[in-house]
This record gives sequence, structure tokens and C-alpha cells, in this order.
Amino acid sequence: MTKILVTGATGQVGRRFLPRLVQWAGADAVRVLVRDAAAVEGLARAGVEVVAGDLREPGDRVKALAGATIVVNVAAAFRGVPDDEAFAVNRDAAVALGREAVEAGVRRFVQTSTNLVYPAGLGRPALESDPADPGPAANVYPASKAQAEAGLRELAEQLELTVVRPAFVYGEGDSHLRDALPRVAQWPAHKRLPVVHHADLSQALWRALSMPGAAGRTYNVLDDAAITAHDIRALHGVPQPTDTADQVDTDPWHGVASTALIRAELGWRPLYPSVWTARDAGAL
Ligand SMILES: NC(=O)c1ccc[n+]([C@@H]2O[C@H](COP(=O)([O-])OP(=O)(O)OC[C@H]3O[C@@H](n4cnc5c(N)ncnc54)[C@H](OP(=O)(O)O)[C@@H]3O)[C@@H](O)[C@H]2O)c1
Repeated sequence: MTKILVTGATGQVGRRFLPRLVQWAGADAVRVLVRDAAAVEGLARAGVEVVAGDLREPGDRVKALAGATIVVNVAAAFRGVPDDEAFAVNRDAAVALGREAVEAGVRRFVQTSTNLVYPAGLGRPALESDPADPGPAANVYPASKAQAEAGLRELAEQLELTVVRPAFVYGEGDSHLRDALPRVAQWPAHKRLPVVHHADLSQALWRALSMPGAAGRTYNVLDDAAITAHDIRALHGVPQPTDTADQVDTDPWHGVASTALIRAELGWRPLYPSVWTARDAGAL
């Protein structure tokens, strides 16, 4: 029997992915590992199995893995946490979960990574075959995610590992784009933010966990039109600066990645090819 263990169910991505996963796989095929069981009462009522625990605790991981056939590791610590916690959750716990998944007989392990693992200065869209090496100057988040990928790849002989690398995720009431406004205020107006809608990340995770061809593969997941700083401001009714003509984005390809692979191999297409499409559909 299929049993899909999902971590990070209470986060921005997880709480939008889980209801979809329940529709696609059935509630009795789904289990979540969460620190706060009360936060997923709705899922429990729908029939999802809830294991209360911390991803950093070996005993909690083993409990969550018992009988699981597929793992989707969505959890991460990157919103205002100390560096040691980020490494502990994003790298150490992720790799330990992979190792223990092998011992528990798990077949497929989907790791939610990020488009920020690529090095700067590629000068073109990043390809999955480029090194997952954000460089020594990278902050803890991309560094810990890249190191998690490397640790999990060492298990690739024993586990069907699929790595999903989403861009900045937005939509469905997530305030992420609005929250980015202070950062975007420092950007040249033409600088672009590569993004993906929650619906499209959810369908990428579903394909990654369910399609045989995804075994052992890595996929970029982003929409067709990275949004400019100008358009992020326009979307939120923020006044535009007038002195932007001479500003230059020194790395215009940062975070931009090709989706040719996931299109060809998993048949994935963005339901929302741009933020504007999502807005017109009322899906922001
Ligand atoms: N959002 C984006 O734009 C974006 C872009 C690219 C990649 N990603 C990746 O997508 C994934 C989800 O991101 P998100 O935006 O949903 O993050 P988020 O909103 O910060 O959620 C993080 C999730 O991880 C859980 N978690 C953190 N530490 C834990 C621990 N010690 N034990 C158990 N669970 C723990 C959190 O649980 P609590 O509720 O208990 O804190 C929460 O459910 C991450 O792997 C991230 O790297 C996100």
C-alpha cells in the first residue's frame, strides 16, 4: 500500500500542497510529520495520518517513516532562524531522513530544494546539469540546500531520489511577493524575480513523487516569465522610482532556470505561466 510521508505540511508550500495531494492520492495514503498537530486538524479530520515530532529528532523521524513508501521532504528552516538551525533542518535532518528512509524500505524520496543552489554569473538559464554550488559567498539557505542535495545523492543507489528546485513561490493568499517589496526596492526596475505559482509547484511535486520517469532526476520548476521589480511594485500599487534609467542588474540570469527537462520528462506545464495570468485568474 502506498504511504506518502510529507514534511513541512504547515508551511507556505505544504499547506497548499497537502489538500491537493489528498485529492490525488487519497487521504489514507498520506501521512504528515509536524511539530504542531493542532495546526493540521483539518487534514486529520480528512483522514490524513498525523505524526507529531521534530525533524531533527531521530526517534520522531523513525516513527514517521515506519511503513512509508514515498517521502516528500518539504520542511525547511529559513525564515528568520539562526544558521545552526538552518543547517540542522535543511541539511542534517534531510540527509538523515534519506538515510533512515533507505532503512525503512522507502522507494522514492522527493527533496524540495531551490533554484538558488546554482552559481552566480551563468549568463543563461541554469540547467539541472549545472553544479549545485552557490559558492562560498552564498548565505546559509542555498548553502544548506545544496549540501543536502549532495548528501542525499550519496544514497541514490539505494533510493529513487528526485530533486525539485522551485523558484520563489507565490499565489493563493501567500504574502510572499508583497513581503519581498522592501528587498525589491533596492533593485533596478528591470531586475527580474523568477517565480512559480503554488499550484504549479504542487503539480511538480505530485509528478515527482508519482511518475516512474522521475526516479533519479532533478527538475527546475518556475513559470515562463520572471517578474520584474517594476511589475512587483505595480502589482501592489507601490509608486515607481523615477531615477532607474542608469541602474544595471549585474547578474540578470540569477535564479533563472530552464524548464525544458520537466516539460519533456514529466509533461509538466505551468497552469500560471506568469504572475499576471495568476492575477487575471484570481489566484494571487
Ligand atoms: N517559498 C518559496 O518561495 C520557496 C522557494 C524555493 C524553494 N522552497 C522550498 O520549499 C520548501 C517549503 O518552503 P515554505 O515556503 O513552505 O517554508 P515555510 O513556510 O517556512 O515552512 C517550513 C515548514 O518546515 C517545517 N519545519 C521547519 N523546521 C522543522 C523541524 N525542525 N521539524 C519539523 N518541521 C519543521 C515548518 O514547520 P513549523 O510550522 O512547525 O515551523 C513548516 O511546515 C522548503 O524546502 C524551501 O526550501 C520554497
